[in-house]
Amino acid sequence: MVHARFDEFWPRSKDQSSGSVMVMTILKEDAMAAVEVSTTSSLEDRLVASATAALEIFSIHLGRRLGLYRALAGGAKTPGELAAAAGIDPRYAREWLEQQAVAGFLLVQDAGAAPDRRVYRLEPGAQAVFTAEEDPRHVSPLADLVAGIGMTLDKVVAAYCSGEGVPFADYGTHLMEGQGAVNRPAFLHDLVPSWIGAVDGLIDRLSHGSRIADLACGVGWASIAMAQQIPGASVIGWDTDAGSIETARRNAAAAGVDVRFELANAAAMDREGPFDLVTILEALHDMANPVEVLRSARSVLSEHGLVLVADEKVADEFTAPGDELGQAAGFGSVETLDVDAGFFQLHVLRNFAFSSRRHYPKVVGSNPNPRNKICDEKRPWITTWAAFFLLEE
Ligand SMILES: C[S@@+](CC[C@H](N)C(=O)[O-])C[C@H]1O[C@@H](n2cnc3c(N)ncnc32)[C@H](O)[C@@H]1O
Repeated sequence: MVHARFDEFWPRSKDQSSGSVMVMTILKEDAMAAVEVSTTSSLEDRLVASATAALEIFSIHLGRRLGLYRALAGGAKTPGELAAAAGIDPRYAREWLEQQAVAGFLLVQDAGAAPDRRVYRLEPGAQAVFTAEEDPRHVSPLADLVAGIGMTLDKVVAAYCSGEGVPFADYGTHLMEGQGAVNRPAFLHDLVPSWIGAVDGLIDRLSHGSRIADLACGVGWASIAMAQQIPGASVIGWDTDAGSIETARRNAAAAGVDVRFELANAAAMDREGPFDLVTILEALHDMANPVEVLRSARSVLSEHGLVLVADEKVADEFTAPGDELGQAAGFGSVETLDVDAGFFQLHVLRNFAFSSRRHYPKVVGSNPNPRNKICDEKRPWITTWAAFFLLEE
């Protein structure tokens, strides 16, 4: 039986739209509950703002995909000049430039001029965000990533009904390349000196003929950075996505770096070891088989080898409402290194043995205990993180 409908409790009039409101959300007879939502603006304002932001993201994707930012990085332009430089229709060039200027991304030199005579400029700070591929401020590939997800939603809808998954390859090149590009500056500038460097003596140890495996390597920027910055290390990247592996090989060739990239499931690397370092970078939460992959990683470690997992910085416990980084559970019981205040948290799993239930592996020394076994269990309350780890003695 339904006790309460959402719209009977959510304030409709403007003067009720701020402050703290009580919203009834649970509709089943025995499970009625009230959730207090603290908000300074109304839910409808928030959704309108989200929709506007989403449309802005799509216009950024258009600008990246059509080379419009790159053309503007070459100098200020009128709509006609941009159209000629990028090979697009002049009327669309004008529409896009006006939208970008209104959004505050571009400067217009004379807003009062006739529309086709206005000159638009990309300031240096904006160039870093939109075109500087190795700059830490280069976050605009997120627009490609979001656009790629948007293009795949029909498959996600079907998956919600069937309970099946949607392979990474089905999200297409925009998500694949956007994902790689947005992580590239962090891998280039932070991975070796700051993240791997956060583990005492590790860079030195790896610098003498070590073997490194980068699991779920994507388009390869992390593997390439490690091969470039750790002398004598031999790096292999694995991924199940053929497009990612092809792109990674191209990226390595363009960078002049010798890295082996293999199309393979990271859970099946047992015969490839031993490795002194196994990395899983922003990928464990994407995997349908994270437990098998961690088990496989563990099985190929050399005597003093370790696994580094870097993933989204999220709360350790489910809390609702959560902060803006989401509500998924983190890696609370693993050694977590404070590498910086940014997006990633770094987790170190040394030659791990396991001592407690319902936790990720604890760091308990350097001898793996072969009797320990990892099982998985679906988290009932979060769908984006498919599994967590139930550990048994
Ligand atoms: C979010 S991307 C991260 C890629 C890369 N590590 C990065 O940070 O740019 C996740 C990657 O995990 C890969 N992946 C998922 N499950 C995998 C598995 N079992 N074995 C190997 N790769 C896997 C996907 O194909 C995808 O390239």
